[in-house]
Amino acid sequence: MILLPILLYSLWGEPSRCLEEDGGFTTEKNIRHFAVATNTVYIAAEEKLYQLNHDLTLVQKLTLRGILTGGHLKNDARFYRGSVTNELNATFSVNILLPFVMNDTLVSCGVLECGYCEVLDLKNISNVLYREHIQVGSPLRNSASVGFLVNEEGQNAYILAALQQDETKSTGSSCPTGSEAVHLHNTYNIQRGYIFSTVGEHNTHVIKREGSVEFVDGFQINSIIYLFSNLPSRNTVRLIWLEGKATKKQTLESLRGANLSLSADGGRGGILLSSSVIPGGPPVLWSGVFSVDGGKTNTELLLFDISPDLNMTADADPDFCSVCTVNKKKTAETLKPKAVLFRQKSMTSVLAVRHKAWMVFFIGTGDGQLMKLSVDQNFQSSCPRVLYRDDYDRRVFPKMHLDPVDLKHVYMSFENQMKRVAVSKCGTYTDVRACWSAQDPHCVWCGSTISCTFEDDCPNSDWLSIPDDSQQKIVSYKVMKDSTGQVTLNIHTHLTVGQKALDKYSCNFSTSSSDFSELCSRESPFPKFPQCTCILSNSSLPAEGRHVTVSLILGTTILMEKLKLSDCPDIRGRPAYVLCGECVRAGCGWSRNGCTWANQGVGNDSVCQQMESMMNFSTPEISSITPSNVSFHGRNHAVLSGSNLRDVIRVRIQCTQQESPVWNNTGVRLTFHIPGANSKGVVKVCAVLPDGSCHGNTKITYQSSPSCTDITPSSTWISGKRNITLMGSHLELVEGVMLSHCLEGVMHSHCLQEVTPRNSNYQYLTYESPAAGKGVSAVKVFLKVANKSLPCHKTMSYHPEPEFISFTSTVTGEDLRITIQRGGNRGSLVGDI
Ligand SMILES: *[C@@H]1O[C@H](CO)[C@@H](O)[C@H](O)[C@H]1NC(C)=O
Ligand SMILES: *[C@@H]1O[C@H](CO)[C@@H](O)[C@H](O)[C@H]1NC(C)=O
Ligand SMILES: *[C@@H]1O[C@H](CO)[C@@H](O)[C@H](O)[C@H]1NC(C)=O
Ligand SMILES: *[C@@H]1O[C@H](CO)[C@@H](O)[C@H](O)[C@H]1NC(C)=O
Ligand SMILES: *[C@@H]1O[C@H](CO)[C@@H](O)[C@H](O)[C@H]1NC(C)=O
Ligand SMILES: *[C@@H]1O[C@H](CO)[C@@H](O)[C@H](O)[C@H]1NC(C)=O
Ligand SMILES: *[C@@H]1O[C@H](CO)[C@@H](O)[C@H](O)[C@H]1NC(C)=O
Ligand SMILES: *[C@@H]1O[C@H](CO)[C@@H](O)[C@H](O)[C@H]1NC(C)=O
Ligand SMILES: *[C@@H]1O[C@H](CO)[C@@H](O)[C@H](O)[C@H]1NC(C)=O
Ligand SMILES: *[C@@H]1O[C@H](CO)[C@@H](O)[C@H](O)[C@H]1NC(C)=O
Ligand SMILES: *[C@@H]1O[C@H](CO)[C@@H](O)[C@H](O)[C@H]1NC(C)=O
Ligand SMILES: *[C@@H]1O[C@H](CO)[C@@H](O)[C@H](O)[C@H]1NC(C)=O
Repeated sequence: MILLPILLYSLWGEPSRCLEEDGGFTTEKNIRHFAVATNTVYIAAEEKLYQLNHDLTLVQKLTLRGILTGGHLKNDARFYRGSVTNELNATFSVNILLPFVMNDTLVSCGVLECGYCEVLDLKNISNVLYREHIQVGSPLRNSASVGFLVNEEGQNAYILAALQQDETKSTGSSCPTGSEAVHLHNTYNIQRGYIFSTVGEHNTHVIKREGSVEFVDGFQINSIIYLFSNLPSRNTVRLIWLEGKATKKQTLESLRGANLSLSADGGRGGILLSSSVIPGGPPVLWSGVFSVDGGKTNTELLLFDISPDLNMTADADPDFCSVCTVNKKKTAETLKPKAVLFRQKSMTSVLAVRHKAWMVFFIGTGDGQLMKLSVDQNFQSSCPRVLYRDDYDRRVFPKMHLDPVDLKHVYMSFENQMKRVAVSKCGTYTDVRACWSAQDPHCVWCGSTISCTFEDDCPNSDWLSIPDDSQQKIVSYKVMKDSTGQVTLNIHTHLTVGQKALDKYSCNFSTSSSDFSELCSRESPFPKFPQCTCILSNSSLPAEGRHVTVSLILGTTILMEKLKLSDCPDIRGRPAYVLCGECVRAGCGWSRNGCTWANQGVGNDSVCQQMESMMNFSTPEISSITPSNVSFHGRNHAVLSGSNLRDVIRVRIQCTQQESPVWNNTGVRLTFHIPGANSKGVVKVCAVLPDGSCHGNTKITYQSSPSCTDITPSSTWISGKRNITLMGSHLELVEGVMLSHCLEGVMHSHCLQEVTPRNSNYQYLTYESPAAGKGVSAVKVFLKVANKSLPCHKTMSYHPEPEFISFTSTVTGEDLRITIQRGGNRGSLVGDI
């Protein structure tokens, strides 16, 4: 995989490393920490510290330097003011990087001997205001520790540093480490003790933990401090609540704790990988990416209500304590997830934001993707969208931030790269329906620009967007009949609209031109957003139903919906489970006696699903799909196996709004084409029946595109029959090999020859070279994947058949050396002898 870029560099003569296609910054070393404050991004990458504008243009960078004391630190000389640069003879890397906006400073602490902290000018990091040899944060490089400011306002602010504890491994450090897991450090000299001191009223107060702990995240909301950690030895995720009080002692002794259970029954543990609080509240909602199996692959995004329970006894946690006495009754609450938001392979990071009524989650993955998941207030998620995909499958760093200046970009990083990725790709949706169907709360359809944009890019215009709750359709409708026999059509639009669209809201009902009478009677009420009502002037509906077109006029945007009005009790004559779905979709209601008017029955799908499950009729079941690992280009001729497949007409890929027709359906086996996807990852597949219901829940994994980087051997005789090996990646996803002998118009069908691979795996694919026509001297090789032909970057040469003219033999020692001479003047070709 790494071969390709190297090849390109050498062709272009210079590295293309400085080119960033969409807002990025490359550091020299790997990124360890980054922080965002007001309009600036700070990146710590090993011993380098960078100050960037919010758009990731560089302001300045510097090397972090401090003094090695050789352990002979005089008490009064423990800090150094002013310019002592000539004495700064060692570099250090950062463990804690904290913008202290209130104070206009940036605190950076790292490991130099035991610990070393600097206070820098927030606006200009080359101005060092203060430095000191002091341990704030862990003395270990790359430790699972966290640091953040608490009580940030005013002079009561402290730095909370929570340190990884490892009971099994010795730290390999000569610095004082003990069971002291959480410290509060001063931020001002005027606090009791000096700056960075942990001394409280009389002595030092800490939170202790006997045994291993890894801290993942922490923050303060109002007066409550939240701290999340893993207890790896027990496979348990722990939350600590502290109340931000006047003194360190009071704050630390207010400790209360909870276990986070990964399952609703409270039993399942796991590992927290990344976390983000969801703005808004109370209640305080929080999301975490958890590893379910302890590895990094099987991950879930869960949502918890982490509002503290202040009724619990303070400082009585079984794992953490400030005043540690043995004879206290120990209790920890168990919090259960309120919702499983997303299951996906190898999630590594999460950032939650709120947009209107929606929660939006940005999710980073182990293979370099940034995804966006929108979730409504009932925890219904829309389909995830991919915002960014890394070319090199690099792991996304657990922490992500929102650009605080425009709130329209997410900062994410991997290895030595920082990216600034737009929160939405509204512009890719080119019509009003696509814009709505994207279910992206950041996007609106703008009437004046006739495009899908951010709301603030659509000023002084009418606009429309998705409603506050997740909906399948823009418009739903009900057909009702009252006691006088009058039939009413009630339209409900599922939209949010701007004032200008609201002011010009109306509905226009029209019916086929052959029907000259007015569809709606003059008594129909005036449209009132989000509804429109049409009282039919002719209450008798024809047996075949009446086709009606509804035009929703929202300012300058007009949305057309085609409906079929049926006489509800007339929908009958099919098995009940088919009928129910059809009845509900026709805007009618389901009752004990069958289909009826919407006001006389239940008008939603759940009643039909209930019935299906009660009836024990043979719903289709999918047992497997082969292959189920495909590239994101899709796959032709996939085979779906299962039972009761006879009536299946299509295969639906959930979340992509794509459906594929089926062929060769035997009832237990059918063939279909897996369509391409715009993202890697797992999708669910179900089988569609004629009534529109979809059954089964089998997974397909979309993986990267195959690539071909080398061909060996790269030559063959014109008669072919040589075993050829292609090298590259994801070659197991290749369907066939295409050879083209034309130089121009390579993809013309008369140029192409398809070969079936003998076998293939991730790295290698072998095939037998076919015979070529006369005069062919080279062929281009392509990988066939669904309807794509992906080129190999090498060509295959064909040589005329060899003619052996003569041979000579010479005896050298015990060996007999045979030299074969052949005709033609081409270079040497090693045959398979
Ligand atoms: C750095 O300076 C200190 C004090 O001046 C000295 O003790 C130490 O040996 C020096 N270290 C290096 C690596 O030069
Ligand atoms: C930062 O401060 C230094 C010295 O005070 C000055 O030379 C430099 O120009 C400043 N840099 C920026 C980006 O303001
Ligand atoms: C906060 O500002 C004060 C005054 O400038 C300074 O002495 C102190 O070091 C700063 N503290 C931190 C943690 O930045
Ligand atoms: C919750 O915490 C207690 C005490 O630490 C522990 O015994 C228990 O196993 C934990 N439960 C879960 C589900 O992790
Ligand atoms: C705390 O106790 C009060 C009074 O006993 C009760 O009303 C409240 O519901 C309790 N809160 C929680 C979170 O249990
Ligand atoms: C209603 O729609 C029909 C057909 O689209 C059109 O001919 C008619 O002018 C529209 N009426 C109004 C009031 O917009
Ligand atoms: C009402 O519709 C029915 C069925 O389409 C038709 O037979 C009847 O003539 C219509 N009545 C009027 C008054 O248009
Ligand atoms: C469907 O109807 C039932 C009963 O009328 C109701 O409880 C449920 O919330 C409805 N579901 C939806 C999705 O509207
Ligand atoms: C459903 O039908 C199958 C086969 O017809 C039968 O084996 C099974 O017991 C039935 N289940 C119920 C709940 O009736
Ligand atoms: C699909 O690929 C994954 C690795 O990406 C592998 O673990 C799994 O076994 C593959 N499944 C099949 C059916 O080949
Ligand atoms: C259907 O099956 C026939 C015979 O087995 C085969 O030739 C044909 O290619 C199949 N069609 C598809 C679309 O797989
Ligand atoms: C090519 O490889 C296959 C097994 O992979 C072998 O059976 C066959 O003999 C080989 N053909 C040649 C020409 O070496």
